[in-house]
Amino acid sequence: MALAARHPATPMLGMEIRERVTEFCAARLAEARAKAAPTAPPPPAGPAPTSLAAGAASVGAPATPSPPPPPAYANVGYVRTNAMKYLPNYIPRGTLTKLFFCYPDPHFKRKKHRQRIISGALLAEYAYVLVPGGVAYAVTDVYTLSAWMFTRFDAHPLFMRLTDAELAADPMVAFVRDHTDEAQRVERNGGTKFVGAWRRVPDPVDSAGVDGGAEAGTGDGDGAAARGGRRGGDSKVGGVS
Ligand SMILES: C[S@@+](CC[C@H](N)C(=O)[O-])C[C@H]1O[C@@H](n2cnc3c(N)ncnc32)[C@H](O)[C@@H]1O
Repeated sequence: MALAARHPATPMLGMEIRERVTEFCAARLAEARAKAAPTAPPPPAGPAPTSLAAGAASVGAPATPSPPPPPAYANVGYVRTNAMKYLPNYIPRGTLTKLFFCYPDPHFKRKKHRQRIISGALLAEYAYVLVPGGVAYAVTDVYTLSAWMFTRFDAHPLFMRLTDAELAADPMVAFVRDHTDEAQRVERNGGTKFVGAWRRVPDPVDSAGVDGGAEAGTGDGDGAAARGGRRGGDSKVGGVS
């Protein structure tokens, strides 16, 4: 929500598997939209104008009034889905500029590790939906999970880790790390946050000009928007778990 308010022109989608959590998010969004909605201007003071006066007043009115700004939080939504199964059903190839994994479930037990949201196979899907040049962020307060996620991202040929200097200069990092509910719980409990980010590098075959490829812009000024992907779509931001 904080990110959506900061970048009102960038479409964003949150994915959550649990119904109650999705309903909670939708209710919070509705509340924020209602709070931010402009209130109707008060009626003019004094006696009601005659129809002639009203007609005369309209002569001086601007011919094309400027359009109202888009309603607050119109750029963000939530969907209840299993992101590990259905992400590519929602997001076309090469259209996301940012992808956030904020405090995903750690699945501590070894036999549950395959339910972790970062794996070699799933990274191929995340690379598929990200535009080359786009960035995937992962944050957790569980050291062993950070090691798991970071190792897999680092090993994947379509991702390149951002350097410490790049992380420090990236305004998205603070949102991912500090502005979610879980981030605030970690903060209250004095936990440590481990954050990493990886740039989606172009496919070797695309770079050779076989498939043509759009790359995320870097000079967009706000760090959240970038050029759309191969289908020419708008830039978008996705967040899961
Ligand atoms: C620890 S919470 C973190 C929530 C939020 N990202 C935050 O930082 O406050 C993890 C969330 O991921 C959701 N989740 C787990 N597996 C998922 C999946 N496959 N697809 C979508 N959401 C999932 C859980 O239901 C839970 O709400």
